Amino acid sequence: GQPRGQGRPSSSGAAVQRAPEAASPGEAGEDAEVNTRKKTFAEVQTERLEQAERTVLIKCPPKLNEKKLLQYLSSHGNIKSHFFFENWGIHALIEFSEKNSIASLQDAIGVPSAAEYHVVPFKSRLFNFMLKNPVSQAAEETLLHLSPQSHIPVKELIEKLCHADSISSQMYILLNEYQLTDENIKLRYLVCSLVQDFARAYFPDSTVKPFGSSVNTFGKLGCDVDMFLDFRDTQKHAAKMKKGPFDMEYQMKRLPSERLATQKILSVIGDCLDNFGPGCVSVQKILNARCPLVKFSHQPTGFQCDLSVSNSIAIKSSELLYIYGCLDSRVRALVFSVRCWARVHGLTNSTPGTWITNFSLTMMVMFFLQQRSPPIIPTLDQLKELADQKDKLVIGGYDCSFVSDLSKIKCTNNTETLDVLLGDFFEYYGNFDFRRNSINLRKGKEVNKPESSPLYIWNPFEQDLNISKNVNQPQLEKFVAMARESAWILRKEEKAQQMVNKQPWGLAALLIPFGKSNSNKMKNRMKGIGSETIRNLLDSLKLNNPNNLQKAVGK
Ligand code: CTP
Ligand code: MG
Repeated sequence: GQPRGQGRPSSSGAAVQRAPEAASPGEAGEDAEVNTRKKTFAEVQTERLEQAERTVLIKCPPKLNEKKLLQYLSSHGNIKSHFFFENWGIHALIEFSEKNSIASLQDAIGVPSAAEYHVVPFKSRLFNFMLKNPVSQAAEETLLHLSPQSHIPVKELIEKLCHADSISSQMYILLNEYQLTDENIKLRYLVCSLVQDFARAYFPDSTVKPFGSSVNTFGKLGCDVDMFLDFRDTQKHAAKMKKGPFDMEYQMKRLPSERLATQKILSVIGDCLDNFGPGCVSVQKILNARCPLVKFSHQPTGFQCDLSVSNSIAIKSSELLYIYGCLDSRVRALVFSVRCWARVHGLTNSTPGTWITNFSLTMMVMFFLQQRSPPIIPTLDQLKELADQKDKLVIGGYDCSFVSDLSKIKCTNNTETLDVLLGDFFEYYGNFDFRRNSINLRKGKEVNKPESSPLYIWNPFEQDLNISKNVNQPQLEKFVAMARESAWILRKEEKAQQMVNKQPWGLAALLIPFGKSNSNKMKNRMKGIGSETIRNLLDSLKLNNPNNLQKAVGK
């Protein structure tokens, strides 16, 4: 096989991999990123949350002199970093070096005059910047560099992919176009920090932290911000107070269940965001869900947000995926390609339903990578063996311990290219015995299904939960059919690829809906093939169409 990454630096894939902790361009050289130790999940979170607390967001006029804005703000303290972006107007994210610069700024600025509306006097870290004399001041405008906060459309991506020289480089191109940028990550943490300001009005010890794809290294530009309200620091404090000859504790309101407490807290904070939160719109309280949450849209940053209350197991899943994503550059490249592929073919959907979620899909990719020989990523049980005392954690009776220090995990000897891995991924799941077997990342083995859900993926921590319980049989069959078709396209195209340069090839060919892309060509391909698999596949596709099913049963 070829070296992994096709000639890219294989030590860490740093040329193509943007770690969440990476410094913004210019802050540190690219080489520094290669050499620095990978931070633990907790280190990244602490650092980012602290950074967000030193950050403000300013809506700016369309024409503006960047230098003068910065000069004006600098009178309140040193500006550590900043960037501009467009979202219904120009915004500037300003990161001060010191938190108290924000208080100084807040003291110096005015509240809007309430001529027509009454303004709610809640002072947040969202500001409007205005020119006193727009006509003369606009003349001083400079060209602003706007940092993009969304990815390019698939059509444009496909064009770019066609110019690549291998499937592997296609996959890295997709990764680079879709992954979260350092700027976008800063915005995500800022939203959490703004919500935290509200939460702390009630619970001064609480924190609001992001989880899910915003932090697990698998987020793409435009994905939602999952955040949760954490009281864990409060509990730690309580444990300390119990030492000594006396016991003292807070008087606290008691409720019959944790769920009820969660619902009450979310209800109040949801109302607060709805009534007083600048830029918080479409606030929806979904308190009767299995995991109660408040959904809202944050206009200034453009994020769709889901706020829940401390969900330690979900955070552990995020950390586990973070570790897998950091271990080898091929991991993220493969996940991004598979997720994009699934979205194009309608296998995933932004609304909840019976389809596979990105989270399940990511777990399926992880499991596939555990099955390689030698494996590309370790099993969860192996990560548990590497855990030290401080990594020990039991949540609700489930052992959630695993190693947090990435340097303790041995690198894989597997050198398979992404070209091979992508094709084999589709082949593997195209032929997986879903009727009998389930996917278990803890053991890294296919095991008998404990119950009859069409797709069974063990929750790595709550071992009696299936994370893909929502998936129904037709959706699973569609996934299998698409995987087979894709495996077939890749195998078929491998050799012809270079010659037919004008047609989308490799990954690009997989990102065009199969029905739409020259269906004649596809029919011709099918004709020439005597393979049982393909014929069965066609039959199963026909049977999935209710009209054909009627014909088949003779009605
Ligand atoms: N989660 C879980 N079990 C599920 C669904 C979700 O534990 N059945 C947790 C996971 O930690 C997941 C997080 O909730 O990462 C957020 O869920 P979701 O937003 O659906 O997935 P993301 O991983 O954030 O992916 P996406 O980019 O689609 O938002
Ligand atoms: Mg999410």
